[in-house]
Amino acid sequence: MVATAGKPLESQAIGGRGGVDAVLSFSPIPSLRPCMNPARRKTYLKALGVDVWVSRSTPGEATEPEVAKIVPIAKVPAKAKAPPEPAAELPVIERAPPIIVPTDWAAVRAMVKDCTRCKLCATRTQTVFGVGPESASLMVVGEGPGADEDARGEPFVGRAGQLLDEMLKAIGRSRSENTFIANVVKCRPPGNRDPEKEEAEACRPYLEAQIKLVKPKLIVALGRIAAQRLLVTDEPLSRLRGPLHAYGPERTPLFITYHPAYLLRSPREKAKSWDDLKKVWRFLQTG
Ligand code: URA
Ligand code: SF4
Repeated sequence: MVATAGKPLESQAIGGRGGVDAVLSFSPIPSLRPCMNPARRKTYLKALGVDVWVSRSTPGEATEPEVAKIVPIAKVPAKAKAPPEPAAELPVIERAPPIIVPTDWAAVRAMVKDCTRCKLCATRTQTVFGVGPESASLMVVGEGPGADEDARGEPFVGRAGQLLDEMLKAIGRSRSENTFIANVVKCRPPGNRDPEKEEAEACRPYLEAQIKLVKPKLIVALGRIAAQRLLVTDEPLSRLRGPLHAYGPERTPLFITYHPAYLLRSPREKAKSWDDLKKVWRFLQTG
């Protein structure tokens, strides 16, 4: 595969804001529109700390949850800010040249494992390739590994990862069964800083190779940084979240939602995150 590093990716709004809904709600027979399993919905809402009130006079479950109150997910004290890590002696690496990434899993894995295309190679413990079935219909993309992921070699294994797993579970998804999880950069940015644009570009051929191999029906990018790096834009999340975008040479549908780490810090946004997850679920059922 010829890498497309540096090439701006197209972003298209389908029906403008709320475009996914616009596409998905197009069903001539409303009763045939998919409806989420109530137990699954409850699991998710419980995990998110969102209370749902269902009228006692209504037999069975309401088709759409009514978000009555949002309570913090856990009374765990906020993690003390880690002291900034000492600046590492980093090699000066110029803009990574285009590369041809192999088109089989083993070769891509091997290439990532020893990669030195950007300065993050100097400070990582190990690369974090990604996890999940090789032909998952959903691919989730975060910004980059944190300390836990760098130590374990697997994406989203810290607190944010636990919340991500709960969110996925609520829509019938898991990393072991049907969802491939990766990051924009495969190596941890030191001090948990955001991955730089050059680092994302250097790593892009690997993500594109993964997308080409997995062939997901939908990619969900988590948070502003993942979205901005994927779409090569500085637009705020408020504008990126909503419309359905198209990613890369395959023009895979790309949906953008909140990062679980942000949801841990801002529990008020969990209701909107739940709206997004329902759209993802519906898209995967019908789209
Ligand atoms: N945050 C991310 O964006 N990716 C991870 O793998 C973990 C936390
Ligand atoms: Fe290579 Fe990506 Fe790691 Fe940079 S972040 S060294 S491009 S694997």
